Amino acid sequence: MANNSKIWKGNWTFILAAAGSAVGLGNIWKFPYMAGENGGGAFVIIYLACIVLIGFPVMMSEIFLGKYGRSSPVYTMKKFVSLKGISSYWVLLGWFGGLAGLMILSYYSVFAGISLAYIFSPIPADSMNPSQYSVDFFAQFQSSPMRMIFWHSLFLILTCIIVARGVVDGIGATIKVIMPTLFFLIILLSIYSSFTGEIEKAISFLFMPDFSKISSSVIISAMGQAFFTLSLGMGAIMAYGAYIPEEQNLTKTVSLIIFLDTFVAIIAGIIIFPIVFANPELTPTAGPSLFFETLPVAFYGIPFSFFASALFFILVSLAALSSSVSLIEPGTAWMEDRFKISRTYAVIILGSTAWLLGLGSLLSFNIIADFQIFSMSFLDFMDFLTNSIMLPLGGLFIALLVGWILEENFVKQEMKIKNEIYWKIWIYLTRYIAPILIGLVFIFALF
Ligand code: TRP
Repeated sequence: MANNSKIWKGNWTFILAAAGSAVGLGNIWKFPYMAGENGGGAFVIIYLACIVLIGFPVMMSEIFLGKYGRSSPVYTMKKFVSLKGISSYWVLLGWFGGLAGLMILSYYSVFAGISLAYIFSPIPADSMNPSQYSVDFFAQFQSSPMRMIFWHSLFLILTCIIVARGVVDGIGATIKVIMPTLFFLIILLSIYSSFTGEIEKAISFLFMPDFSKISSSVIISAMGQAFFTLSLGMGAIMAYGAYIPEEQNLTKTVSLIIFLDTFVAIIAGIIIFPIVFANPELTPTAGPSLFFETLPVAFYGIPFSFFASALFFILVSLAALSSSVSLIEPGTAWMEDRFKISRTYAVIILGSTAWLLGLGSLLSFNIIADFQIFSMSFLDFMDFLTNSIMLPLGGLFIALLVGWILEENFVKQEMKIKNEIYWKIWIYLTRYIAPILIGLVFIFALF
Protein backbone atom coordinates (compact mmCIF):
# COMPACT_ATOMS: atom_id res chain seq x y z
CA MET A 1 0.00 0.00 0.00
CA ALA A 2 1.13 3.58 0.49
CA ASN A 3 4.79 3.50 1.16
CA ASN A 4 6.21 6.87 2.07
CA SER A 5 9.65 5.54 2.72
CA LYS A 6 10.12 5.05 -1.01
CA ILE A 7 10.04 8.68 -2.09
CA TRP A 8 12.82 9.44 -4.57
CA LYS A 9 15.62 11.67 -3.47
CA GLY A 10 16.13 14.92 -5.34
CA ASN A 11 14.17 16.35 -8.24
CA TRP A 12 16.13 14.62 -10.96
CA THR A 13 15.06 11.08 -10.23
CA PHE A 14 11.46 11.74 -11.15
CA ILE A 15 12.43 13.77 -14.19
CA LEU A 16 14.73 11.02 -15.44
CA ALA A 17 12.21 8.28 -14.84
CA ALA A 18 9.36 10.19 -16.47
CA ALA A 19 11.51 11.39 -19.37
CA GLY A 20 12.81 7.84 -19.70
CA SER A 21 9.23 6.67 -19.99
CA ALA A 22 8.18 9.39 -22.40
CA VAL A 23 11.16 9.33 -24.75
CA GLY A 24 11.18 6.05 -26.60
CA LEU A 25 10.06 4.43 -29.82
CA GLY A 26 7.10 6.79 -29.81
CA ASN A 27 9.41 9.67 -30.63
CA ILE A 28 11.96 8.10 -32.90
CA TRP A 29 9.99 5.39 -34.67
CA LYS A 30 6.32 6.28 -34.39
CA PHE A 31 6.23 10.07 -34.72
CA PRO A 32 8.00 10.18 -38.11
CA TYR A 33 5.91 7.45 -39.68
CA MET A 34 2.64 8.84 -38.34
CA ALA A 35 3.57 12.27 -39.67
CA GLY A 36 4.49 10.62 -42.97
CA GLU A 37 1.25 8.70 -43.21
CA ASN A 38 -0.91 11.63 -42.23
CA GLY A 39 0.35 14.26 -44.62
CA GLY A 40 3.16 15.91 -42.61
CA GLY A 41 2.66 19.51 -41.44
CA ALA A 42 -1.08 19.32 -40.82
CA PHE A 43 -0.55 16.34 -38.54
CA VAL A 44 2.42 17.97 -36.80
CA ILE A 45 0.47 21.14 -35.97
CA ILE A 46 -2.45 19.24 -34.49
CA TYR A 47 -0.04 17.01 -32.59
CA LEU A 48 1.74 20.02 -31.09
CA ALA A 49 -1.57 21.63 -30.16
CA CYS A 50 -2.66 18.42 -28.40
CA ILE A 51 0.64 18.26 -26.51
CA VAL A 52 0.16 21.76 -25.10
CA LEU A 53 -3.61 21.89 -24.61
CA ILE A 54 -4.23 18.31 -23.51
CA GLY A 55 -0.87 16.73 -22.67
CA PHE A 56 0.25 19.45 -20.31
CA PRO A 57 -2.82 19.52 -18.01
CA VAL A 58 -3.26 15.74 -18.13
CA MET A 59 0.36 15.06 -17.21
CA MET A 60 0.15 17.48 -14.27
CA SER A 61 -3.08 15.80 -13.17
CA GLU A 62 -1.63 12.30 -13.38
CA ILE A 63 1.39 13.22 -11.30
CA PHE A 64 -0.81 15.01 -8.80
CA LEU A 65 -3.04 11.94 -8.37
CA GLY A 66 -0.06 9.62 -7.96
CA LYS A 67 1.64 11.94 -5.52
CA TYR A 68 -1.42 12.12 -3.31
CA GLY A 69 -2.06 8.38 -3.51
CA ARG A 70 1.59 7.39 -3.08
CA SER A 71 0.76 3.97 -4.47
CA SER A 72 -0.01 2.05 -7.67
CA PRO A 73 -2.85 3.60 -9.73
CA VAL A 74 -5.47 1.12 -8.50
CA TYR A 75 -4.63 1.75 -4.85
CA THR A 76 -4.28 5.44 -5.47
CA MET A 77 -7.85 5.47 -6.78
CA LYS A 78 -8.97 3.45 -3.76
CA LYS A 79 -7.40 6.04 -1.53
CA PHE A 80 -9.41 8.77 -3.26
CA VAL A 81 -12.53 6.69 -2.82
CA SER A 82 -12.00 6.28 0.90
CA LEU A 83 -10.55 9.71 1.74
CA LYS A 84 -12.35 11.95 -0.73
CA GLY A 85 -15.60 10.09 -1.01
CA ILE A 86 -15.57 9.74 -4.81
CA SER A 87 -17.52 6.89 -6.39
CA SER A 88 -15.83 3.51 -6.20
CA TYR A 89 -16.23 3.21 -9.98
CA TRP A 90 -13.15 5.41 -10.28
CA VAL A 91 -11.05 2.41 -9.31
CA LEU A 92 -11.85 1.11 -12.79
CA LEU A 93 -9.59 3.85 -14.12
CA GLY A 94 -6.64 2.09 -12.52
CA TRP A 95 -7.64 -1.26 -13.94
CA PHE A 96 -8.30 0.08 -17.36
CA GLY A 97 -4.85 1.70 -17.41
CA GLY A 98 -3.16 -1.55 -16.45
CA LEU A 99 -4.91 -3.28 -19.32
CA ALA A 100 -3.96 -0.55 -21.79
CA GLY A 101 -0.34 -0.78 -20.63
CA LEU A 102 -0.24 -4.50 -21.22
CA MET A 103 -1.78 -4.16 -24.67
CA ILE A 104 0.68 -1.43 -25.67
CA LEU A 105 3.62 -3.40 -24.33
CA SER A 106 2.62 -6.37 -26.47
CA TYR A 107 3.34 -4.62 -29.75
CA TYR A 108 5.87 -2.15 -28.41
CA SER A 109 8.09 -5.08 -27.69
CA VAL A 110 7.80 -6.35 -31.26
CA PHE A 111 9.27 -3.11 -32.63
CA ALA A 112 11.77 -2.71 -29.81
CA GLY A 113 12.85 -6.26 -30.67
CA ILE A 114 13.46 -5.17 -34.25
CA SER A 115 15.66 -2.33 -33.04
CA LEU A 116 17.66 -4.85 -30.99
CA ALA A 117 18.12 -6.93 -34.13
CA TYR A 118 19.24 -3.85 -36.04
CA ILE A 119 22.20 -3.41 -33.71
CA PHE A 120 23.71 -6.25 -35.71
CA SER A 121 22.37 -5.45 -39.16
CA PRO A 122 23.97 -2.42 -40.81
CA ILE A 123 23.99 -2.14 -44.60
CA PRO A 124 27.13 -3.92 -45.91
CA ALA A 125 29.77 -1.49 -47.12
CA ASP A 126 29.83 -2.98 -50.62
CA SER A 127 26.10 -2.60 -51.24
CA MET A 128 25.31 -1.11 -54.67
CA ASN A 129 21.99 0.47 -53.76
CA PRO A 130 21.81 1.06 -50.00
CA SER A 131 18.20 2.25 -49.84
CA GLN A 132 16.97 -0.67 -51.93
CA TYR A 133 19.04 -3.00 -49.75
CA SER A 134 17.46 -1.52 -46.66
CA VAL A 135 13.89 -1.89 -47.95
CA ASP A 136 14.56 -5.49 -49.00
CA PHE A 137 16.24 -6.27 -45.70
CA PHE A 138 13.21 -5.17 -43.72
CA ALA A 139 10.85 -7.04 -46.02
CA GLN A 140 12.87 -10.17 -45.47
CA PHE A 141 13.10 -9.62 -41.75
CA GLN A 142 9.36 -9.23 -41.34
CA SER A 143 8.62 -12.32 -43.36
CA SER A 144 10.44 -14.49 -40.85
CA PRO A 145 8.22 -15.12 -37.80
CA MET A 146 10.85 -17.11 -35.91
CA ARG A 147 13.38 -14.34 -36.17
CA MET A 148 10.87 -11.76 -35.00
CA ILE A 149 9.72 -13.96 -32.14
CA PHE A 150 13.29 -14.33 -30.96
CA TRP A 151 13.86 -10.58 -30.71
CA HIS A 152 10.39 -9.88 -29.31
CA SER A 153 11.01 -12.44 -26.57
CA LEU A 154 14.46 -11.11 -25.80
CA PHE A 155 13.18 -7.57 -25.40
CA LEU A 156 10.32 -8.65 -23.15
CA ILE A 157 12.65 -10.70 -20.98
CA LEU A 158 14.93 -7.69 -20.53
CA THR A 159 11.92 -5.55 -19.61
CA CYS A 160 10.73 -8.11 -17.07
CA ILE A 161 14.14 -8.47 -15.44
CA ILE A 162 14.35 -4.74 -14.89
CA VAL A 163 10.82 -4.42 -13.53
CA ALA A 164 11.33 -7.40 -11.23
CA ARG A 165 14.35 -5.66 -9.75
CA GLY A 166 12.45 -2.41 -9.25
CA VAL A 167 12.33 0.24 -11.89
CA VAL A 168 14.52 2.93 -10.42
CA ASP A 169 17.21 0.59 -9.17
CA GLY A 170 16.98 -1.16 -12.49
CA ILE A 171 17.19 1.79 -14.85
CA GLY A 172 18.02 4.91 -12.82
CA ALA A 173 21.73 4.80 -13.51
CA THR A 174 21.35 3.78 -17.15
CA ILE A 175 18.94 6.58 -17.98
CA LYS A 176 21.43 9.16 -16.71
CA VAL A 177 23.90 7.94 -19.28
CA ILE A 178 21.73 7.00 -22.24
CA MET A 179 19.56 10.11 -22.39
CA PRO A 180 22.40 12.61 -22.90
CA THR A 181 24.22 10.25 -25.25
CA LEU A 182 21.07 9.69 -27.29
CA PHE A 183 20.48 13.44 -27.52
CA PHE A 184 23.99 14.02 -28.65
CA LEU A 185 23.87 11.31 -31.27
CA ILE A 186 20.52 12.27 -32.76
CA ILE A 187 21.58 15.90 -33.02
CA LEU A 188 24.70 14.83 -34.90
CA LEU A 189 22.65 12.57 -37.13
CA SER A 190 20.14 15.29 -37.90
CA ILE A 191 22.97 17.61 -38.95
CA TYR A 192 24.47 14.89 -41.12
CA SER A 193 21.11 14.07 -42.63
CA SER A 194 20.41 17.75 -43.35
CA PHE A 195 23.65 18.10 -45.27
CA THR A 196 23.40 14.90 -47.24
CA GLY A 197 19.64 14.66 -47.78
CA GLU A 198 16.83 16.85 -49.04
CA ILE A 199 16.49 19.08 -45.99
CA GLU A 200 14.32 21.72 -47.69
CA LYS A 201 11.74 19.19 -48.78
CA ALA A 202 11.82 17.65 -45.32
CA ILE A 203 11.26 20.97 -43.57
CA SER A 204 8.41 21.98 -45.82
CA PHE A 205 6.83 18.53 -45.48
CA LEU A 206 7.02 18.65 -41.68
CA PHE A 207 6.25 22.28 -41.00
CA MET A 208 4.15 23.66 -43.86
CA PRO A 209 0.69 22.42 -43.07
CA ASP A 210 -1.47 21.55 -46.03
CA PHE A 211 -4.85 22.02 -44.39
CA SER A 212 -6.61 20.10 -47.12
CA LYS A 213 -4.94 17.01 -45.64
CA ILE A 214 -6.78 17.37 -42.32
CA SER A 215 -9.39 14.69 -41.86
CA SER A 216 -10.96 13.09 -38.84
CA SER A 217 -8.47 10.27 -38.99
CA VAL A 218 -5.52 12.69 -39.06
CA ILE A 219 -6.92 14.46 -36.00
CA ILE A 220 -7.54 11.33 -33.99
CA SER A 221 -4.11 9.94 -34.90
CA ALA A 222 -2.42 13.17 -33.82
CA MET A 223 -4.24 13.20 -30.51
CA GLY A 224 -3.45 9.52 -29.91
CA GLN A 225 0.19 10.17 -30.69
CA ALA A 226 0.30 13.04 -28.17
CA PHE A 227 -0.91 10.68 -25.44
CA PHE A 228 1.35 7.87 -26.52
CA THR A 229 4.53 9.90 -26.74
CA LEU A 230 4.02 11.46 -23.31
CA SER A 231 3.05 8.10 -21.74
CA LEU A 232 -0.27 9.56 -20.65
CA GLY A 233 -3.70 8.13 -20.00
CA MET A 234 -2.83 4.73 -18.54
CA GLY A 235 -1.28 5.46 -15.16
CA ALA A 236 2.43 5.10 -16.02
CA ILE A 237 3.16 8.68 -15.04
CA MET A 238 0.73 8.33 -12.12
CA ALA A 239 2.69 5.34 -10.85
CA TYR A 240 5.93 7.30 -11.04
CA GLY A 241 4.22 10.29 -9.43
CA ALA A 242 3.82 8.17 -6.32
CA TYR A 243 7.54 8.62 -5.67
CA ILE A 244 7.90 12.32 -6.49
CA PRO A 245 9.25 14.44 -3.61
CA GLU A 246 6.53 16.47 -1.88
CA GLU A 247 8.02 19.86 -2.69
CA GLN A 248 8.94 19.28 -6.33
CA ASN A 249 7.56 21.96 -8.65
CA LEU A 250 5.13 20.19 -10.97
CA THR A 251 4.91 22.89 -13.61
CA LYS A 252 8.65 23.10 -14.14
CA THR A 253 9.03 19.34 -14.08
CA VAL A 254 6.25 18.72 -16.58
CA SER A 255 7.39 21.52 -18.91
CA LEU A 256 10.87 20.06 -19.02
CA ILE A 257 9.65 16.54 -19.76
CA ILE A 258 7.33 17.77 -22.49
CA PHE A 259 10.04 19.91 -24.02
CA LEU A 260 12.56 17.05 -24.12
CA ASP A 261 10.03 14.64 -25.54
CA THR A 262 8.86 16.98 -28.29
CA PHE A 263 12.42 17.95 -29.13
CA VAL A 264 13.42 14.33 -29.68
CA ALA A 265 10.40 13.68 -31.92
CA ILE A 266 11.06 16.72 -34.11
CA ILE A 267 14.76 15.89 -34.39
CA ALA A 268 13.83 12.33 -35.39
CA GLY A 269 11.71 13.81 -38.17
CA ILE A 270 14.65 15.93 -39.28
CA ILE A 271 16.85 12.85 -39.43
CA ILE A 272 14.38 10.71 -41.34
CA PHE A 273 12.68 12.90 -43.94
CA PRO A 274 15.75 14.40 -45.67
CA ILE A 275 16.85 10.82 -46.33
CA VAL A 276 13.40 9.73 -47.43
CA PHE A 277 13.14 12.53 -49.98
CA ALA A 278 16.64 11.89 -51.28
CA ASN A 279 15.99 8.21 -52.05
CA PRO A 280 13.24 7.18 -54.46
CA GLU A 281 13.06 3.71 -52.87
CA LEU A 282 11.83 5.27 -49.64
CA THR A 283 8.37 6.80 -49.23
CA PRO A 284 7.02 8.93 -46.38
CA THR A 285 3.89 6.79 -46.23
CA ALA A 286 5.75 3.53 -45.59
CA GLY A 287 4.18 3.16 -42.12
CA PRO A 288 5.82 1.32 -39.21
CA SER A 289 8.69 0.15 -41.41
CA LEU A 290 9.78 3.73 -42.28
CA PHE A 291 12.26 4.07 -39.43
CA PHE A 292 13.86 0.70 -40.08
CA GLU A 293 14.16 1.31 -43.80
CA THR A 294 15.56 4.80 -43.44
CA LEU A 295 18.02 4.79 -40.55
CA PRO A 296 20.43 2.22 -41.96
CA VAL A 297 20.70 4.42 -45.05
CA ALA A 298 21.70 7.34 -42.83
CA PHE A 299 24.62 5.34 -41.52
CA TYR A 300 25.73 3.96 -44.83
CA GLY A 301 28.92 5.56 -45.96
CA ILE A 302 29.71 7.59 -42.87
CA PRO A 303 33.04 6.97 -41.12
CA PHE A 304 32.91 4.04 -38.69
CA SER A 305 29.43 3.30 -39.93
CA PHE A 306 29.17 -0.16 -38.35
CA PHE A 307 30.14 1.21 -35.00
CA ALA A 308 27.93 4.30 -35.26
CA SER A 309 24.92 2.30 -36.35
CA ALA A 310 25.36 -0.28 -33.58
CA LEU A 311 25.70 2.48 -30.99
CA PHE A 312 22.59 4.19 -32.30
CA PHE A 313 20.43 1.08 -32.20
CA ILE A 314 21.76 0.21 -28.73
CA LEU A 315 20.67 3.64 -27.53
CA VAL A 316 17.27 3.32 -29.21
CA SER A 317 16.78 -0.09 -27.59
CA LEU A 318 17.72 1.31 -24.20
CA ALA A 319 15.35 4.23 -24.68
CA ALA A 320 12.66 1.69 -25.56
CA LEU A 321 13.47 -0.29 -22.42
CA SER A 322 13.16 2.73 -20.17
CA SER A 323 9.70 3.22 -21.73
CA SER A 324 8.55 -0.38 -21.74
CA VAL A 325 9.22 -0.79 -18.03
CA SER A 326 6.73 1.98 -17.32
CA LEU A 327 4.10 0.07 -19.27
CA ILE A 328 4.03 -2.84 -16.81
CA GLU A 329 5.16 -1.08 -13.67
CA PRO A 330 1.61 -0.05 -12.64
CA GLY A 331 0.25 -3.57 -13.18
CA THR A 332 3.17 -5.13 -11.35
CA ALA A 333 2.90 -2.83 -8.34
CA TRP A 334 -0.82 -3.55 -8.19
CA MET A 335 -0.42 -7.35 -8.32
CA GLU A 336 2.29 -7.20 -5.71
CA ASP A 337 -0.07 -5.34 -3.33
CA ARG A 338 -3.23 -7.17 -4.23
CA PHE A 339 -2.06 -10.78 -4.22
CA LYS A 340 0.92 -10.37 -1.92
CA ILE A 341 3.14 -12.04 -4.46
CA SER A 342 6.71 -11.10 -5.32
CA ARG A 343 7.44 -8.66 -8.12
CA THR A 344 9.10 -11.49 -9.98
CA TYR A 345 5.91 -13.56 -10.08
CA ALA A 346 3.79 -10.59 -10.99
CA VAL A 347 6.13 -9.70 -13.82
CA ILE A 348 6.23 -13.24 -15.14
CA ILE A 349 2.44 -13.37 -15.34
CA LEU A 350 2.11 -9.96 -17.00
CA GLY A 351 5.13 -10.46 -19.24
CA SER A 352 3.84 -13.78 -20.59
CA THR A 353 0.45 -12.24 -21.30
CA ALA A 354 2.08 -9.40 -23.22
CA TRP A 355 4.27 -11.90 -25.05
CA LEU A 356 1.29 -13.96 -26.22
CA LEU A 357 -0.69 -10.94 -27.25
CA GLY A 358 2.38 -9.61 -29.04
CA LEU A 359 2.46 -12.72 -31.21
CA GLY A 360 -0.76 -11.51 -32.80
CA SER A 361 0.88 -8.25 -33.86
CA LEU A 362 4.05 -9.96 -34.89
CA LEU A 363 2.30 -12.52 -37.07
CA SER A 364 0.22 -9.84 -38.72
CA PHE A 365 3.41 -9.01 -40.66
CA ASN A 366 3.47 -12.46 -42.19
CA ILE A 367 1.32 -15.50 -41.38
CA ILE A 368 -1.91 -13.70 -40.51
CA ALA A 369 -1.34 -10.68 -42.75
CA ASP A 370 -4.78 -11.14 -44.31
CA PHE A 371 -6.67 -11.46 -41.06
CA GLN A 372 -8.68 -8.31 -40.41
CA ILE A 373 -10.62 -6.77 -37.53
CA PHE A 374 -12.77 -3.79 -38.61
CA SER A 375 -10.70 -3.78 -41.79
CA MET A 376 -7.46 -3.36 -39.88
CA SER A 377 -4.63 -5.84 -39.36
CA PHE A 378 -4.28 -7.19 -35.84
CA LEU A 379 -1.37 -4.82 -35.21
CA ASP A 380 -3.21 -1.77 -36.57
CA PHE A 381 -6.25 -2.69 -34.55
CA MET A 382 -4.28 -2.95 -31.28
CA ASP A 383 -2.52 0.28 -32.08
CA PHE A 384 -5.77 2.09 -32.88
CA LEU A 385 -7.61 0.71 -29.87
CA THR A 386 -4.90 1.67 -27.39
CA ASN A 387 -3.58 4.96 -28.82
CA SER A 388 -6.65 6.46 -30.31
CA ILE A 389 -9.27 5.17 -27.89
CA MET A 390 -8.00 3.87 -24.57
CA LEU A 391 -5.33 6.47 -23.80
CA PRO A 392 -7.46 9.51 -24.67
CA LEU A 393 -10.36 7.99 -22.76
CA GLY A 394 -8.10 7.46 -19.73
CA GLY A 395 -6.89 11.04 -20.10
CA LEU A 396 -10.45 12.32 -20.36
CA PHE A 397 -11.42 10.71 -17.08
CA ILE A 398 -8.25 11.89 -15.36
CA ALA A 399 -9.03 15.47 -16.41
CA LEU A 400 -12.66 15.11 -15.32
CA LEU A 401 -11.64 13.72 -11.95
CA VAL A 402 -9.17 16.49 -11.23
CA GLY A 403 -11.15 19.29 -12.87
CA TRP A 404 -14.67 18.48 -11.73
CA ILE A 405 -14.92 15.78 -9.09
CA LEU A 406 -12.23 16.74 -6.63
CA GLU A 407 -12.65 19.91 -4.67
CA GLU A 408 -10.91 22.87 -6.27
CA ASN A 409 -9.20 24.10 -3.11
CA PHE A 410 -7.83 20.70 -2.35
CA VAL A 411 -6.33 20.36 -5.83
CA LYS A 412 -4.96 23.88 -5.74
CA GLN A 413 -3.27 23.32 -2.40
CA GLU A 414 -1.81 19.97 -3.32
CA MET A 415 -0.53 21.31 -6.63
CA LYS A 416 1.10 24.18 -4.75
CA ILE A 417 0.18 26.65 -7.45
CA LYS A 418 0.37 30.09 -5.86
CA ASN A 419 0.02 32.42 -8.81
CA GLU A 420 -3.71 33.17 -9.22
CA ILE A 421 -3.60 33.85 -12.94
CA TYR A 422 -1.65 30.71 -13.65
CA TRP A 423 -4.03 28.69 -11.53
CA LYS A 424 -7.02 30.06 -13.45
CA ILE A 425 -5.41 29.11 -16.75
CA TRP A 426 -4.46 25.69 -15.45
CA ILE A 427 -7.85 24.79 -14.08
CA TYR A 428 -9.51 26.16 -17.23
CA LEU A 429 -7.37 23.87 -19.36
CA THR A 430 -8.07 20.88 -17.14
CA ARG A 431 -11.75 21.50 -16.64
CA TYR A 432 -12.84 22.67 -20.09
CA ILE A 433 -10.25 22.68 -22.84
CA ALA A 434 -8.75 19.20 -22.44
CA PRO A 435 -12.02 17.28 -21.89
CA ILE A 436 -13.90 19.20 -24.58
CA LEU A 437 -11.16 18.70 -27.15
CA ILE A 438 -10.90 14.98 -26.39
CA GLY A 439 -14.67 14.68 -26.52
CA LEU A 440 -14.92 16.56 -29.83
CA VAL A 441 -12.22 14.43 -31.43
CA PHE A 442 -14.09 11.31 -30.37
CA ILE A 443 -17.39 12.59 -31.67
CA PHE A 444 -16.03 13.66 -35.06
CA ALA A 445 -13.73 10.73 -35.57
CA LEU A 446 -15.93 7.90 -34.51
CA PHE A 447 -19.35 8.92 -35.73
N1 TRP B 1 5.94 7.12 -24.37
C1 TRP B 1 6.65 5.96 -24.80
C2 TRP B 1 7.26 6.23 -26.15
O1 TRP B 1 7.09 7.29 -26.69
C3 TRP B 1 5.79 4.72 -24.78
C4 TRP B 1 5.12 4.53 -23.46
C5 TRP B 1 5.71 4.24 -22.28
C6 TRP B 1 3.76 4.72 -23.18
N2 TRP B 1 4.77 4.22 -21.28
C7 TRP B 1 3.57 4.51 -21.80
C8 TRP B 1 2.68 5.04 -23.97
C9 TRP B 1 2.32 4.66 -21.23
C10 TRP B 1 1.44 5.18 -23.40
C11 TRP B 1 1.25 5.00 -22.03
O2 TRP B 1 7.93 5.42 -26.70
